[in-house]
Amino acid sequence: MRKLKIGVIGGGSISDLHLDSYSINEQAEIIAICDLNSERSKQKAERYGAQYTYSSYKELLANPEVEAVSICTWNHTHAEISMAALQAGKHVLVEKPLCTTVKDALQVEQIVKETGKLLQVGFVRRYGSNTNILKQFIDHDELGEIYYAKASCLRRLGNPGGWFSDKERSGGGPLIDLGVHVIDLCWYLMGRPKVKSVSGNTYNKLGNRANVQNLSYYKAADFDASNNTVEDLAIALIRFENGASLMVDVSFTLHAKQDEMSVKLYGDKGGAEIEPELLIVSEKYDTVVNLTPQVDMLTFDFVKGFQAEIDHFVDCCLTGKETISPVEDGVEIMKILCGIYESSQKGMEITF
Ligand SMILES: NC(=O)c1ccc[n+]([C@@H]2O[C@H](COP(=O)([O-])OP(=O)(O)OC[C@H]3O[C@@H](n4cnc5c(N)ncnc54)[C@H](O)[C@@H]3O)[C@@H](O)[C@H]2O)c1
Repeated sequence: MRKLKIGVIGGGSISDLHLDSYSINEQAEIIAICDLNSERSKQKAERYGAQYTYSSYKELLANPEVEAVSICTWNHTHAEISMAALQAGKHVLVEKPLCTTVKDALQVEQIVKETGKLLQVGFVRRYGSNTNILKQFIDHDELGEIYYAKASCLRRLGNPGGWFSDKERSGGGPLIDLGVHVIDLCWYLMGRPKVKSVSGNTYNKLGNRANVQNLSYYKAADFDASNNTVEDLAIALIRFENGASLMVDVSFTLHAKQDEMSVKLYGDKGGAEIEPELLIVSEKYDTVVNLTPQVDMLTFDFVKGFQAEIDHFVDCCLTGKETISPVEDGVEIMKILCGIYESSQKGMEITF
């Protein structure tokens, strides 16, 4: 069996889920790891049996044996590394968000077209089993026309610090980090309607609250709470050309009783909740019914979601199949995210 030779660029927290998934996939072989921190790339290479280690991504890309790369670096490097990788003839799986500006997103899209290489955006929630089950119901028109969706991803305490809280490197706070997942999930399940306008507000009221004790949360590999230039809450209304609306709120920190993850879709034939648990709402013979699928996992399982994302990427690279999370979708999501930041900054609705 031919194995796809993989390089992983960025060996921090999320790279473990990529590396674990590649090592389980029988059609992939991890051969190279790169991190600015050479000790980190060496440790990971040892753990996953990679032959080559680098501290410069350019050197990794110059290795002709590497056929495909996962980019798991800070957001502001995604566009540059993706374009260099595509131009070096590699297929690319880039972590979300695709990049930090619409200009960069369009450039990456252009390079994908020019090189004919595959670029898959790490919209991992598209690969969850709860998403796939619901997608089948939607594809069979069980929800009818989806005209409203509502997504919340509220952390009461969860600014990951380090580069995440440095706007220069992250491009923003919870909106670009968490909002990207739930906005994409709704948009994907709504059938990817064209965006008409966005209106949003971001708030920077609470800071990173690194003072809080005895409550643990996700942290960047190089955690540092001394610098925080990102919003701690973002809210938005997104209008689509087909008349549908999406309402979102996301936070790194908020005086909320508990964390909240909720993603809901409403159509003219039925509704659905995908988070916190998959549920379909319908009307049958003049009776309202709530349908709970009898499945192992009603919510998103990170390990399985990443495995499905990586398996799909490897399969697409080896067979030439089209990815379900292509660069064009990354561009559309960047338009929405950047539109919300612009709307908040200008205090007005942004139309496209
Ligand atoms: N899909 C998800 O659910 C999910 C979850 C967490 C993070 N992410 C994304 O993954 C990416 C990384 O996040 P993380 O939590 O692993 O951060 P991290 O800080 O733990 O790791 C990032 C690593 O990238 C390295 N790096 C940065 N720039 C580099 C460069 N130019 N060349 C080589 N190495 C470089 C850093 O040294 C660090 O080790 C981000 O884009 C983030 O949005 C996705």
